[in-house]
Amino acid sequence: MVRRVFSIVPEGKPAHDEPRLPPDSTAAGAGATTLSSLPPLSLYVHVPWCVRKCPYCDFNSHEAKGTVPEEQYLAALRADLEQALPLIWGRQVVSIFIGGGTPSLLSASAVDQMLAMFRAYLNLWPQAEITMEANPGTVEAARFKEYASSGINRISLGIQSFNDSALQALGRIHDSKQACAAIDIAQNAVQRVNLDIMFALPRQTVDACAQDLRQAMSFQTEHLSLYHLTLEPNTVFAKFPPPVPDDDTGAAMQEMIAEATQEAGWERYEVSAYAKPGARCLHNVNYWEFGDYLGIGPGAHGKLSFHDRIVRQARLKNPQAWMDKAVRMDGSHLAQNSQVMPDELPFEFMLNALRLKHGVPASSFTERTGLSLMAIMPALDRAVAKGLLSPDPGRLQATEHGWRFLNDLLSEFLD
Ligand SMILES: C[S@@+](CC[C@H](N)C(=O)[O-])C[C@H]1O[C@@H](n2cnc3c(N)ncnc32)[C@H](O)[C@@H]1O
Ligand code: SF4
Repeated sequence: MVRRVFSIVPEGKPAHDEPRLPPDSTAAGAGATTLSSLPPLSLYVHVPWCVRKCPYCDFNSHEAKGTVPEEQYLAALRADLEQALPLIWGRQVVSIFIGGGTPSLLSASAVDQMLAMFRAYLNLWPQAEITMEANPGTVEAARFKEYASSGINRISLGIQSFNDSALQALGRIHDSKQACAAIDIAQNAVQRVNLDIMFALPRQTVDACAQDLRQAMSFQTEHLSLYHLTLEPNTVFAKFPPPVPDDDTGAAMQEMIAEATQEAGWERYEVSAYAKPGARCLHNVNYWEFGDYLGIGPGAHGKLSFHDRIVRQARLKNPQAWMDKAVRMDGSHLAQNSQVMPDELPFEFMLNALRLKHGVPASSFTERTGLSLMAIMPALDRAVAKGLLSPDPGRLQATEHGWRFLNDLLSEFLD
């Protein structure tokens, strides 16, 4: 049986639950965190608009209703970033992920201004991975090339399926022909392309899923993100559930996917992420290794480490409210700005690290949380005894069984 891993974590979005922390407790000393070094830093930028809201989607995405207010958005983004700069002074940014929503609704000039702003304000690593999410229904060949010349070096395309009736059932604005054309355009614009595919779709059979996968792999992109469709609360699909495959069929699809991708040379390095050698998504790997990220834009989340504390931030979700408040330059665009308490860190760390197939070195627990491994020894021992965690003392890594039943493994770290 395929189990949900707390929540799906699509490309570019960090894995963590809704805020569970007390508000505005960023003062040093509230919890005893001591970090001897700071982790790599990434930047997430949220673009909240879409042509139409998909019935399965619970992201902070809103129908554009006319044109996207690019000028107002860019001004607010600049104000948001300026207010965050003191939190990341001097630190190098190793990756940027422009996600949504549908960032490919932005004009080439808006993306150019955005990237110029990032280069001006940030210490951006020259080889930084800079990904942009795009919806195949919004792809224009010329614009993609322009995005690339502005600095976008990786494109993540929300393909979902190549089957027209499946796309219709998902309420997508594109068809299979547009999906193929978009992949072609993206591959001509940048070398690094990811395809998002969902499976366990309404009425989908294992054969139909295999056909989608074959077609996805045939483009030989360097990366695939293969997500089990989940019926998220507060979506149209949650209210009117479509006839999705049962758990056994979903599990058969997952097994088929694992075998076919492995045979074709893709490595499943995370629960939903498959890469050709050397093509992992650095931005996401930084989340999973419990690195730092500044999140700007409506609803964006961030996690930032300091020598004496780790801070969690969230921006206001409503695009208009975020835009109005960000430019006031008084911090009122923040919905959350709070210290992660030491007792919350083990679960947060494991929620990310154990998604990675090969886990992380055990030493990174202390490096990234400031806590001794002794603090979680009873949970580690229990997980090893249950066959969920590798007994290797040098790594924190799920066993095959633990990876399959990741929720059970993670719940060991909840206390
Ligand atoms: C935020 S969307 C961005 C991509 C772009 N907006 C699009 O849809 O083409 C990222 C990806 O999350 C996945 N996703 C969204 N909702 C999902 C759900 N309920 N279950 C599984 N995957 C989902 C889809 O594959 C989607 O491409
Ligand atoms: S296009 Fe993408 S972000 Fe927008 S509603 Fe659909 S799945 Fe969500």
